[in-house]
Parts: sequence; C-alpha cells; structure tokens
Amino acid sequence: MRYAIVGTGARHQMFRNAIARNFGNRHEIAALADLNPHRLALSAGWVKDNASREVPTYLATDFDRMIAEQQPDTVIVTTPDFTHNEYIVAALKAGRDVITEKPMTTDLKRLKAILDAQRESGKSVTVTFNYRYTPARTQLKDILMSGAIGEITAVDFRWYLDRVHGADYFRRWHRYKDRSGGLLVHKSTHHFDLVNWWLGSTPTRINANGKLAFYTPEMAKKLGLEGHGVRCHGCPVAERCDFRLDLDTDEALKALYLDAEEDDGYLRDKCVFADDITIEDTMQVQAEYASGASLNYTLVAYSPWEGLEVKFHGTKGELTHRHVEVHGVFGGKRDHAHKDGITTELHLAGGLPQSIPVWEGTGDHGGADPVMLGYIFDKENMEPDRYGRASNQVQGAWSILTGISANRSMATGEVVDVDALLAEYDISLPRG
Ligand SMILES: NC(=O)c1ccc[n+]([C@@H]2O[C@H](COP(=O)([O-])OP(=O)(O)OC[C@H]3O[C@@H](n4cnc5c(N)ncnc54)[C@H](O)[C@@H]3O)[C@@H](O)[C@H]2O)c1
Repeated sequence: MRYAIVGTGARHQMFRNAIARNFGNRHEIAALADLNPHRLALSAGWVKDNASREVPTYLATDFDRMIAEQQPDTVIVTTPDFTHNEYIVAALKAGRDVITEKPMTTDLKRLKAILDAQRESGKSVTVTFNYRYTPARTQLKDILMSGAIGEITAVDFRWYLDRVHGADYFRRWHRYKDRSGGLLVHKSTHHFDLVNWWLGSTPTRINANGKLAFYTPEMAKKLGLEGHGVRCHGCPVAERCDFRLDLDTDEALKALYLDAEEDDGYLRDKCVFADDITIEDTMQVQAEYASGASLNYTLVAYSPWEGLEVKFHGTKGELTHRHVEVHGVFGGKRDHAHKDGITTELHLAGGLPQSIPVWEGTGDHGGADPVMLGYIFDKENMEPDRYGRASNQVQGAWSILTGISANRSMATGEVVDVDALLAEYDISLPRG
C-alpha cells in the first residue's frame, strides 16, 4: 500500500517510521507534504537514510497535485487539529482512504464537512485512538465486558497533566481555542473516546465549567518571572523559570522546530504565561449517557504528578484503575520515577477488594502505539480484535462531541442537549 503523509511535525514520525521501516516489506511512503520546507526535507532525509528511498515532497498548497501525481492509497493526516478537515475532505473527494490523528476535528462545521465527504465518497476514515490499545486500558474493557460489576451506573474519571507535559499545551497552536478546540477537545478526545468505548454508549447531555487558573500573566508575577520574553529562546528570565523549554539543548527539537523557524515563524517555545492564551487549564464536565450511566470528569494541566484515576460504579460492585505515569522532570527538582505505577482493583459488593494483575506492554503511550500500528499496518497477522478498538469517523465524531458540547456549556452556562446541538448543524450520527 502507498501512503502519503501531510504534516511532517513530531507526530508523523510514528507513522512514517512504521511504514518505511517496521512494515516496509509491504508498505511504502508515496509522498510527504507540509507547509514548512525544512521539516519536509528533514523527514525525506530520514526516509532516505533509514529506508534507502527518495520520497517526493510537496508543499501542502500542492496537496491535490501530490495526490494526482503520486496516487497514494491512503492519506495520513498529522497536521494541527484545526486543519485536519481540509486534508480529510480533499483526500476523500480524491477517492483516497484516510487515517487521521485525533481529534478528528475541532468544531461542528468542520465535522459536518468530514461526515458528508465520507458518506459521498464511500472511502474509509480511521481515527487513531491509541489509548484504547494501552494494554491496561484494554483490560478494563475486558473486565467491563465480562459483566463483573453488573450494569455500569456511573463513572468518576480524573486526568492530571503535570507541569512538564501540561505546560507543553500552552506553548504553541494548542493554546488557541480556534486551533485545538481547547483541551476538552484536543486532549480529552482520548478520554471521552475511552469512556464511550468502555461504556459502549454515547453522551446525551453535557454540563461543564472551566477556567484558566495557572498559565496566566498573574502567575508569572507570583513566580517572580516579571519581564519574561515572548518565548524561552533568549528569554531574560529563562535561567530562573522552571517552565522553560530549551530548544538549543534538545537536538531533536532544535532540528524540527528551531532550525525551521525561518520558513514559517512557527515558535515551539512561546511563554506559557502569555496573555493571548484562549484555552482553559482547569476543567470539569458532567455527562449523561444513552445507556443511563453518568460521568464526572476532571482535567487539570498543572498537576504535581501525571496520570489518571477512573472508577466505574456498577450494580454488583466497583472497578478502580489508577495510573501514575512517568513523564518529564519538572524544573529539575523531581527525581524521575523508573517505572509507571498502575493498579486495578475490583471490589464486588459483599467481598473484599481484589487487586488485579495489570496487563503490560512496551512502547510509546503505555505500550499502545505498537499494538495499534500492528492493527493498522499488519492486520492479517494480528488476532481478531474482540475489543472493537478500530475507530472510524463515527467514533471520531462522538469522541469530540463531549468536548464541543462542553465548550458550548462553558460559554453559555447551560446544560447542552447533544442531539439538539447536532440538529443545529444538520448532522445525523448513529449512537453506539
Ligand atoms: N495520538 C497521540 O497520542 C498524539 C500525540 C501527539 C500529537 N497528536 C496529534 O498529531 C497532530 C500533529 O501534532 P504534532 O505534535 O506533530 O504537531 P507539530 O506542530 O509538531 O506538527 C504539525 C506539522 O504540520 C505542519 N502544518 C501546519 N499547518 C499546516 C497546514 N495548514 N497544512 C499542512 N501542514 C501544516 C507544520 O509545519 C508541522 O510540520 C495533532 O493533531 C495532534 O493532536 C496525537
């Protein structure tokens, strides 16, 4: 199969490397596209060095010409979130299948265009929800599918981003709501997708509140960072800022971003305390599901630790999962833990809590990425997927609908009826 990739930033490397190297015996990169010539050349150079192939490169403004000349079977979209729709729609209209990074898109107008183009073309859209493939999370699906806790009535779900990972969403395009949809779309698309999949259901009513509490100019003052620059590179207070990202000392980041700035002015290290940030860093969502279950969800982006806690309440008992993730080291003051701490506990009514041995994996995102890549690029050699982890435009849509509805709820202060919101945009979606 021949794949064209549009968007040659950090994330495309996972797909490129898998196609060109791991599954190179049956797949090939047909072409690469981006708006930034430096990043394009860097990526093509990697393919040449690692797969001994000259890959044609195109400016993304020549996307249609690329498709016509290179005839890829599938287009992989790894551009910033607010641009996914452009390439998904163009690729479908050109009769190509699509694999897109999450979130599938950021708002309902763009969602409608994608759903219409998919229906009219009959081609496939795959949304790469790698979190479903994390062995420990697949195991939760396995336990829930077994009916161990009976009917699931409610879910408490909290996700904490630490001050290394969390801060990174406040440095570049993610920090603008019109480019990422905010963290409830950009990041929580993973989490709401997990809930939809775990429950086998879809949300009906959403209430949310959120605020920007930490990544603010006021916080910079409190931290003694007055006089900071617009970016870390050359910032007068960088030496005493625990949030600085040093593009000069990280070889990969330097090559991908600092050395590419001249082409498009994309700054990877903007100050996280700037006054033009339009997303929230503290969010709480309550959702009701078609199954009758309800959800309480919290996302915080400046936590002292990174990880998640989820508790499923059922008619027969409770399932509780906690994952303390190993991530970056904040300000050099915290030791790196050597291993993630993951626990899963099943507590049935009338019995004692039972610790469940957690399924493990190796590779990025808790062992998720290698399993997902196997199902995408080498399906014939994988076990039939009894957990239904593959996701198309329908699951892609439901995963962003909670966040999009939450954005509406935060803006209006009202509870959002998801069906009414879909009707406003003339979108009809099957419910899971
Ligand atoms: N599933 C995951 O775990 C995961 C992890 C990281 C990123 N992602 C997703 O991958 C996508 C890319 O993220 P990233 O971190 O690589 O971002 P990035 O900014 O590093 O890379 C984006 C690339 O797209 C290019 N670009 C920008 N605008 C464009 C346009 N209009 N047309 C064509 N190219 C354009 C940029 O020049 C850059 O090379 C995002 O949608 C993100 O949500 C997913």
